[in-house]
Amino acid sequence: MTQFADFIVSHTTPSAPPACPEIGLHLAADAIALWEATEIFLERPNLPPPYWAFCWAGGQALTRYLLDNPALVAGKRVLDFAAGCGASAIAAAKLGAATVDAAEIDDLAIEAITLNAALNGVAVTTLRADVVGTLGRWDVVVAGDVCYERPMTDHIWPWLKRMAESGTLVLMADPGRAYLPKHGLTELARHTVATLLTLEDREFREVVVYRLTGAS
Ligand SMILES: C[S@@+](CC[C@H](N)C(=O)[O-])C[C@H]1O[C@@H](n2cnc3c(N)ncnc32)[C@H](O)[C@@H]1O
Repeated sequence: MTQFADFIVSHTTPSAPPACPEIGLHLAADAIALWEATEIFLERPNLPPPYWAFCWAGGQALTRYLLDNPALVAGKRVLDFAAGCGASAIAAAKLGAATVDAAEIDDLAIEAITLNAALNGVAVTTLRADVVGTLGRWDVVVAGDVCYERPMTDHIWPWLKRMAESGTLVLMADPGRAYLPKHGLTELARHTVATLLTLEDREFREVVVYRLTGAS
């Protein structure tokens, strides 16, 4: 086992998110303690939170939506963008996607996705890269909980829109984050998702699953 894998396994517990219990994941319970442990482990201060150790409200709802609508991904080339723990990628693989890529910019997330895919007995290709700008490679792109910061939203939105305009099915799920664009989205479903007080300021969040239309 690599040092990263060892760190993940020793700081998480195999468990299942409430909204998509079909998917087993290495998940943590306390974000702050894990955040501090990660900074010590990597010997780097001011890291972003350990997103990879949680299935966020958006990720839970999006994964639920895929599990309830398997035809959307069966036989398709799927990208889970900003995959975190990789729950949606794993669901797509379980549902018979032709290929599944999971893109992340966090090394620990990449390792967590690999461990989580193995836990579920499926194959997911991890892309440790900022794939924003890459076109024509996927039939379906899923992105859970990606509008939590303005710079990230500004970075990814033109690309997601362009893909939607060129015929890629772009699905996203958002629990009311401040930077979610107001236009170019069609609501597909709504889920009330149990979450952790260590991540959110409440125990439940209403999450909307959208399809990007591309129109502004
Ligand atoms: C709030 S988490 C959501 C994770 C997962 N989609 C979910 O809903 O559980 C946001 C994730 O976006 C990742 N991220 C941020 N910018 C990215 C980029 N340009 N490319 C890939 N991943 C990115 C972060 O590392 C983090 O894991």
